[in-house]
Amino acid sequence: MKNFIAKDGNNILGTYKRLPVCFVRAEGEYLFDDQGNKYLDFLTGISVSVYGHNNLKINDAIKEQVEKLIHVSNLFYTESQISLAEKLNGFYGGGSKIFFVNSGAEANECAIKLARKYQENQYEIITFDNSFHGRTLATLTATGQRKVQQGFDPLPDGFKYAVFNDLNSVKQAVTAKTVAVMLELIQGEGGVHIADKQFVKDLSAFCEEKGLLLIVDEIQTGIGRTGKIFAYEHYGIKPDIVTLAKALGAGLPLGAVIVNDKYKNIFGYGAHGSTFGGNIVACSAALAGLEQLTAEQLSYINEMGAYFKSRLKEITDNVRGLGLMIAMEPKTMPDDLVGQALKEGFIINIVQDKTIRFLPSYFVSKESIDALVEFLKSAINR
Ligand SMILES: Cc1ncc(COP(=O)(O)O)c(C=O)c1O
Repeated sequence: MKNFIAKDGNNILGTYKRLPVCFVRAEGEYLFDDQGNKYLDFLTGISVSVYGHNNLKINDAIKEQVEKLIHVSNLFYTESQISLAEKLNGFYGGGSKIFFVNSGAEANECAIKLARKYQENQYEIITFDNSFHGRTLATLTATGQRKVQQGFDPLPDGFKYAVFNDLNSVKQAVTAKTVAVMLELIQGEGGVHIADKQFVKDLSAFCEEKGLLLIVDEIQTGIGRTGKIFAYEHYGIKPDIVTLAKALGAGLPLGAVIVNDKYKNIFGYGAHGSTFGGNIVACSAALAGLEQLTAEQLSYINEMGAYFKSRLKEITDNVRGLGLMIAMEPKTMPDDLVGQALKEGFIINIVQDKTIRFLPSYFVSKESIDALVEFLKSAINR
């Protein structure tokens, strides 16, 4: 392990403050390190391995595809990509087209390009304070957090920031150049803050009235995380563009942009592209994952989410979340809570220095939740 840490430092750019653990295998809700220690995973690789680790149906789909064909590029038709697009279009309710990418930032980059190309001389996109949309130059500029942007000036022009849950501030940010509004319905990296129902409804109606595109970033909330396929279903709205990644690939790198048919002609041949986007193996994994995301599974996510929140409320009232995207913000906690959790065999995560965020597997058990809550109770009250 020590050897690994030294090699990492000598060879990998230090952009991540890693925890001192090297995982070598996993099973369901558990990760195992190179010393044979076992950890309950309440992060799932930041909401990626949502169907549990070493999921046999996903593994089989990957193996089967690998043995047939791994990659040909988007210059050709491939079966699993088309099947997945059909599935996503169905989730949207029909009447959409899909563009596949490899990551969240790329999905948002694509959405930003769509918006810019939509109307001549209109290129401004309104995003929100505290949002997170990625680390490419355009998406970090879309991100409403100065710390993410620091040092990367000059930032691309064309982004304005409004106050989350405040329609008036959106109205004030609109100019003759505005073309779109882009938002997360739960700001994940920003601290798990949930958009108000009325705000989202009013915002959607406002965008429609003004002819602005409504882009919903479902990279963290999408594909079942909140107990619905898309978080926007909780709000009774239908975005013009939806961006996806993380859970979509069931462990492999995959992102997608769902575009309402009304806007299908914005991009013509050659307007956008990706060598790897919608890779056949990643799409096969995604399909095998989605097969497991049944209506019963979504109910289970809601049931476990409610149970998890009720148990966390034994520690603090400041508990928020939808489905299995949950956070708590106790008044005080030890500085090294994540390290203590690791020593006790739990993987948890803190965002914005004060919010403990939980993104467990969709199959998380009551027993695992109970075990984590008991640890948190002792660590936080210690
Ligand atoms: C809401 C949201 N958008 C975009 C991204 C960027 O995704 P990626 O890291 O795959 O580029 C993230 C990542 O955390 C995210 O949470």
